[in-house]
Amino acid sequence: PNIVILASGNGSNFEAIVNATRKGILNANILRLITNKKCFAEERAKKLGISHTRLKDNWAEELFVLLKELAPDLVVLAGFMKILPSKIVNNFKIVNIHPSLLPAFPGKDAIKQAYEYGVKVTGITIHFVDEGVDTGPIIFQKALEIDGLTLEEVEKEIHKLEHKHYPQVIESILNS
Ligand code: GRF
Repeated sequence: PNIVILASGNGSNFEAIVNATRKGILNANILRLITNKKCFAEERAKKLGISHTRLKDNWAEELFVLLKELAPDLVVLAGFMKILPSKIVNNFKIVNIHPSLLPAFPGKDAIKQAYEYGVKVTGITIHFVDEGVDTGPIIFQKALEIDGLTLEEVEKEIHKLEHKHYPQVIESILNS
């Protein structure tokens, strides 16, 4: 199966997915990394030898045309900071990862939101994408007890969970 990955930032999940394909944890062919702005994910793509496209101002139309052309089996959002229009959401199978136990703490800075709220348990959510912000059918969640940890420690543990589980969940989606 073929996948396309969309990112806007650091790209650590993108890299974890690439590494999982190389270790045989994820049996998928990564057609392209697509970004919407200059970001570290692009540097990782260069280093990893994955082809890359940066969307321009007319990003939604450009993305729609590109996805039509690439025709991936699954579109993987990995820190893509744009809301996808219905035209895209309704024409492709799309998965997202979010660093909280949804529906708690959607939107930006979810790890910090949860930490500052004072929750004792947070975690990660992997879900299919609809037109909302961090909404859509939940596929997988993993909880993390954070009592006594610093924000930096929580961030580190959340990212560890993401990097471990996202490739595995993508694999299971592709096989279902
Ligand atoms: C992750 O925490 C993910 O859950 C959220 O954005 C972050 C992306 O991190 N959607 P990275 O760019 O993969 O390092």
